[in-house]
Amino acid sequence: MTVGQELKWRLFYDNAWAMRAAYLRSLIACGERNVVRLLRRLDAQTRKYRITVNAQGTSFTPQPWPAGFDIGPAGVPLLRPTSFRGNASVVPFHTHDNFAAFIVDYIDQAGPFDAVIELGCGYGRNLFDVYYGGGPSTCRYYGGELTESGVSLARELAALEPDMKAEFFSFDYLEPNLDHLPSFDRALVFTAHSIEQVCKIDAGLFGTIAGVARRVDCVHFEPFGFQVAALGPASQAHRDQVLENNWNVNFAEALDEARKTFGIELTCLVTESFLPSDPQNPTSLAVWHSERPAEAAAA
Ligand SMILES: C[S@@+](CC[C@H](N)C(=O)[O-])C[C@H]1O[C@@H](n2cnc3c(N)ncnc32)[C@H](O)[C@@H]1O
Repeated sequence: MTVGQELKWRLFYDNAWAMRAAYLRSLIACGERNVVRLLRRLDAQTRKYRITVNAQGTSFTPQPWPAGFDIGPAGVPLLRPTSFRGNASVVPFHTHDNFAAFIVDYIDQAGPFDAVIELGCGYGRNLFDVYYGGGPSTCRYYGGELTESGVSLARELAALEPDMKAEFFSFDYLEPNLDHLPSFDRALVFTAHSIEQVCKIDAGLFGTIAGVARRVDCVHFEPFGFQVAALGPASQAHRDQVLENNWNVNFAEALDEARKTFGIELTCLVTESFLPSDPQNPTSLAVWHSERPAEAAAA
C-alpha cells in the first residue's frame, strides 16, 4: 500500500489554524484568559460567516451567509442541510455533533485511562472540550498535529489552563511516531476528521497507536462510511467528493488489515451516524481496543 497525501491538504490547515490563531490572540491581547470563553467566542464568530477559500487553500475570507439561507433573528440561518444514514436531511442550525461528549461518556464507561490522546487534533479544540466537558482532571491529555500553527495555538491555550495536564506535539500520519510519549498502562486515543485528510494510510498506523499503552482503546470519528457500504444517495455524493478532493479512501481496508496484523479487536462500527455540517462528508464511528500482557508492556 502506497501511503500518500496531496500537498494542498498538508498546507491547508496551517493557514486555517493561523487565521483562527490571529482572532484568538486578538481576544487574549484584550485580556480574555478563559479558554472555554475563547473557544466559544471562536465558535460564535464561525457561525456568523461562511469561510470561502481560494483554489490554493492559502487565503480564507469570511463572507456573509449567501441568499438562499433563511436568516433568523440571531443573524444566522434557522436551518442547515445535513445527511444521516445515506440520506439528505435538514436540521436546526444550532444542532451539532458533540464528539467531546462522546469521549467523556466513553471514559466514564470504559475508563479510567492514564492518558487521552487525540491525533490530528488541530488547535486542540476537542481535548479542551473533553476536559471542560467533565473529562478526568487527573489524567494527561496529549494532542498530535501536523501543522505548526495548530500545535502552537494549542500550546498557547494550554498555557492559560495550568490545571489541565496538556501537551501538544508534531505528528504526521505519513510517518506516525509516538515513541516520545511515556509508556502508559491504559490510554484512550481518538481521531476526528483528520485521517480523512490523508488519501492513503498504512495499516501500521494502527500498530503505532496500539503501542502507546498496555491497553489502548481507540475511537475514530472519521468519514469512511462509503468505504463500507452505500446507504443511500448521500453516500454516493460523499464518495464523489472524496475522490475529487483526494481525501481518504482506505481507512476501512487498513483497519481490517490491522485487525489481522496487530490483533486489535473492533468493538463498534456504525457508518454515517452523526449530523455533519457538510452533508457530503458524513462522520462514521469505529471503536477498537488492543491489549498486551503486562510483562510485554514493561519490556
Ligand atoms: C478537519 S481538521 C480536524 C481537527 C480536529 N480533529 C477537530 O476535530 O477539530 C483536520 C486536521 O487534520 C490535520 N492533518 C492533516 N493531515 C495530517 C497528517 N498527515 N498528520 C497529522 N494530522 C494531519 C490537519 O492539520 C487538521 O488539524
